[in-house]
Amino acid sequence: MKMKSPATALASGIALGMLISATALAADAVAGKKIYDSSCADCHELKDHAGKPAAELTKSLKSIVARQKKHKKQLRLDDEQIANVAEYLATAK
Ligand code: HEC
Repeated sequence: MKMKSPATALASGIALGMLISATALAADAVAGKKIYDSSCADCHELKDHAGKPAAELTKSLKSIVARQKKHKKQLRLDDEQIANVAEYLATAK
């Protein structure tokens, strides 16, 4: 069998590296569920927000955190936590 050329090996290494960093940056629905269960589920039922587009949820949550939108409880979430909760809700049923 012919060996892969160094250039091919390098290219696949770069592609793999990109895949790994994309995964690390992707929102984490499991982490989002933990936040939701501990901070939101007292007042919300999952069906309040389940299946809504993540972008819409992110926008709502950002404006709540920024106090631009009234919410029964002032939320303190960083951008990563918002992304995770939004991902969890968007993919929840
Ligand atoms: C103290 C009770 C309470 C807690 C805790 C709470 N909420 Fe709410 N939330 C409400 C109420 C009441 C409303 C307004 C009525 C409604 O939409 O159900 C609301 C509305 C919302 C909305 C819709 C806002 C809009 O109009 O765009 C979102 C999204 C939301 N909450 C997300 C969350 C998330 C995520 C958490 C946890 C991090 C959370 N809430 C925690 C009571 C709460």
